[in-house]
Amino acid sequence: MCGIIGFTGNMPAKDVILNGLERLEYRGYDSAGMALLEDGGITLFKRTGKVADLRTLCANDNSPCTCGIGHTRWATHGGVTDVNAHPHLAGNVVLIHNGIIENYRQLIVEYGLADKLVSETDSEVVAQLLNIFYDGDPIAAIKKTIKLLSGAFALCIMFKDIPGKIFAIRNVSPMIATSCEQGSIIASDLTAVIAFTKEYFVVPEYHILTLSDDGIVVEDLKGNVTKPEILSVNWDITDAQKGGYPFFMLKEIFEQPDAIRNTIAPRIENGLPDFTEDGINDDIFAHCKRICVVACGTAMHAGMVGKNLIEEKLRIPVQVEIASEFRYKNPIIDENTLTIVLSQSGETIDTLEALKLAKTFGSKVLSIVNVKGSTIARESDYVLYTHAGPEIAVASTKAYTVQVAAMYLIACRIGLVKALMTEGEARQFISKLQSAPNIIEETLKHADTIKRVANQIKLSPDAFYIGRGLDYVMGLEAALKLKEISYVHAEAYAAGELKHGTIALITENVPVIAFATQEKVYEKVVSNIREVKARGAYVVLVTMDEAVNDPNICDQHIRVPRVSSEFTAFATAVILQMLAYYTSEAKGLDVDKPRNLAKSVTVE
Ligand code: M6R
Repeated sequence: MCGIIGFTGNMPAKDVILNGLERLEYRGYDSAGMALLEDGGITLFKRTGKVADLRTLCANDNSPCTCGIGHTRWATHGGVTDVNAHPHLAGNVVLIHNGIIENYRQLIVEYGLADKLVSETDSEVVAQLLNIFYDGDPIAAIKKTIKLLSGAFALCIMFKDIPGKIFAIRNVSPMIATSCEQGSIIASDLTAVIAFTKEYFVVPEYHILTLSDDGIVVEDLKGNVTKPEILSVNWDITDAQKGGYPFFMLKEIFEQPDAIRNTIAPRIENGLPDFTEDGINDDIFAHCKRICVVACGTAMHAGMVGKNLIEEKLRIPVQVEIASEFRYKNPIIDENTLTIVLSQSGETIDTLEALKLAKTFGSKVLSIVNVKGSTIARESDYVLYTHAGPEIAVASTKAYTVQVAAMYLIACRIGLVKALMTEGEARQFISKLQSAPNIIEETLKHADTIKRVANQIKLSPDAFYIGRGLDYVMGLEAALKLKEISYVHAEAYAAGELKHGTIALITENVPVIAFATQEKVYEKVVSNIREVKARGAYVVLVTMDEAVNDPNICDQHIRVPRVSSEFTAFATAVILQMLAYYTSEAKGLDVDKPRNLAKSVTVE
């Protein structure tokens, strides 16, 4: 949450910062700000609203200044006001912060800061402390300050009397840095720097960085200079642009076939799943008796799809845990449990802490992560990177389907290693998985029908998704997506459970979207549909059937390609994503930046 960027180099900092902030805006977008460091002074711009509003605010500033920092905020401490926006200035010091300083109240009291503070933020307390400790030696002031802080932080700091330099330090909260032809850049993530270079390094925790126009010095707290490993990515600036689509979300929905191909192709050898290149040792599969999946939100729903498959096909027990609950539990896992962690960003704090807890119980951790070099990837015993490219829209789409594909690959490998599947069965399964991109391409053709349904859903305050088995799991993701971006209250119900309470909410024209793709329970779901139809619901039926025998059971019919039961997930995923997308668009909302949300949840 919050996006931060710092630049010092041989071109005007203002443009680099504003462009970078626009790319980081998906991390938080309630206010934005920038500080430019000129000889002997700091110019500060900050305000509530989007980065576009900040751009307007500083439109008349033509400063040639080549050093500055910028921030886009997702409010935690203190309301959304101009004064709470970053950067925060205290005497000689100006800083931006991502994270939460948990002991900030205590520090206010201990250091008598109450009268000095102008904002309600925890971040300004850090600026005040730095200013107290600063006597001309920036590194010493930073060391003294961070010793006092508990919590997560990524800080970029400038001192009025040190032109051309930015200092940075982090604990937990993500930050990457790079040196390129144009200068030195530090940012929350790669999207802000990809216009300049594909090479970067992850800022090591508790190391102080000094950025200047001729490079970056990284030193630990004892003053030893270190050289972090340089990483590179295989995507470029065009992947982080809308490419003609009105919103990133729609672009990302359409990118799913390629994202899946790119993720699975390098892991298929001679028709079978193979993780040799990923360095994933088969021992972890051979020894596991149980699997524990830990994740948040959409990533957790991908884990539930995996559970459905693994339990159904391999009969290995899988528990799926909400990371924020798991991390405060006394979990029932041990060295015979394989923990699978899913995260697009690789930075979700609850997922990260859950991962660390699982390791303390002796469980091996295999993570499925999209962002290379992210904290979760680095903390895991093994990583399987998904190759979805950057996902910018807050609502996760392509990251979800590639996570499902990765879970399917893992399930198949476990099946082979444990001899729960024959080679022939595994080959057949993989060949079906290779068709997942085609299933998605076929389903994307239903956009017009889905738009019609969206126009109906937008009229209702509530919507319900019903289904059984895998379809129920897909309903959970469908409801999250609809709530998140269209603000229509949505719930998923196991279709057989409706009669135990929820059916009381079904009245005239309430949208009920029935996923009925699982042949084994098809007739059961149809009975449940009749029950809601009889109470006046507006029913949308999603099935594999060409024609529904009884037209009276639904108002709209969306057909998914005929595939075996576990592979309908790819079609249903696209339908649920498009339903949410077109409802949000029909309501005239900012699809990519839904209210109150941020892409990467790096605070508890
Ligand atoms: O980066 P992660 O996959 O760890 O993020 C997990 C959730 O925050 C995320 O999936 C969230 O639920 C999405 N906004 C849903 O679309």
